[in-house]
Amino acid sequence: MVKWGVMSPGAHLDTKIVPAMKALTNTDVVAVFSRSQERADQFAKTHDIPNAYSSIDAFGQHDMDAVFIASPNAFHSDYTKKMAAAGKNILCEKPMAIDLVSAAQMTTACLDAGVKLGIAFNLRAHPAHKQAKTLIQEHKIGPIVYVSGQWAFGTHGADAPPQRTGLRSWWHDPEVLGGSDTLMATGIHVIDLICDLLGDNIVEVTALSNGQTQEKPLDSLASVCCKFSKGTIANIVCSRIIPDSENDLMVYGRDGFIKGSNTISEKLEGSLIVGTETGTTNYDFAPEPLGNYSLEIQNFNEVVMGNELEVLASGQAGYHSLEVALAAVRSAWEGITIQI
Ligand SMILES: NC(=O)c1ccc[n+]([C@@H]2O[C@H](COP(=O)([O-])OP(=O)(O)OC[C@H]3O[C@@H](n4cnc5c(N)ncnc54)[C@H](OP(=O)(O)O)[C@@H]3O)[C@@H](O)[C@H]2O)c1
Repeated sequence: MVKWGVMSPGAHLDTKIVPAMKALTNTDVVAVFSRSQERADQFAKTHDIPNAYSSIDAFGQHDMDAVFIASPNAFHSDYTKKMAAAGKNILCEKPMAIDLVSAAQMTTACLDAGVKLGIAFNLRAHPAHKQAKTLIQEHKIGPIVYVSGQWAFGTHGADAPPQRTGLRSWWHDPEVLGGSDTLMATGIHVIDLICDLLGDNIVEVTALSNGQTQEKPLDSLASVCCKFSKGTIANIVCSRIIPDSENDLMVYGRDGFIKGSNTISEKLEGSLIVGTETGTTNYDFAPEPLGNYSLEIQNFNEVVMGNELEVLASGQAGYHSLEVALAAVRSAWEGITIQI
């Protein structure tokens, strides 16, 4: 049994992570931390968690194997360093931090403390993406020429995302988000996914957005063009104002293609379509709303238990996706191409 503690009991823990943990037979959620004892108690009661803390030091002293950090972006680094010092393995939400110095400190703190650090890039867990990665590694569609990935949503009739208030008001604060709304929300997931699939790093970034101006610092639509070290070009689109978005992955090789149809989603769902000279094959995935989250937690459980060596997404991977997302933010502000 892997004992977990969870930090910052907001929407993500409430509707996805804790329910996914509760459904796993080898996972026990033993403690919750909130900045308010009342909110910690309430969350513990709702989810049947035996211990509730509003002192981060007391929480860190609790007997648990791993901690899931779901705080607003700007607090990931501080919470990670504190939990590493307390000897806890950490699965931290994305973006891992809002600046590169903090991100590097997180990796160093975990290495120094001898604890594991994973970044919660759950798209990597989707079996369609795992299969796509294997096919790419086996050169089934030849060298990869061009990739695109889109993750957008929205509401019909709305020109802007809904206003979030109270404990959720940080979603409108560029300082806490890391300078962008959509890039740090879904864009960074797609950046990470494409880097993972290609096994390559991005070296050049140009971005356009409908934000990153003095009048409107936050975007609700961004398009990022990237070049990889081996020459592949990628386009990434993320938005909160495209209600009918088709959230697809397209990988074009010299000898074929791989399409993830609606696989870029919080749910485990969609289809994988693989086309080569010999024909086209479809693989369908029945919707599992919490499937990708369960798989990411299971992976971390295996790492904590010593049965699996590799976390799904490492601190280094989190660092690279952050440096690309921050470069995209700067590119959108300044209208320039950024070399990484
Ligand atoms: N991987 C994914 O699929 C995915 C999906 C959604 C979200 N996320 C990530 O998960 C994280 C949390 O998202 P969420 O939607 O759960 O957030 P949320 O509901 O808006 O807020 C989470 C909690 O953070 C705490 N908080 C709020 N303002 C704070 C502040 N100024 N300082 C410190 N703590 C504060 C509050 O808990 P207390 O005050 O009670 O401590 C709040 O309930 C984000 O980093 C987000 O990017 C990832």
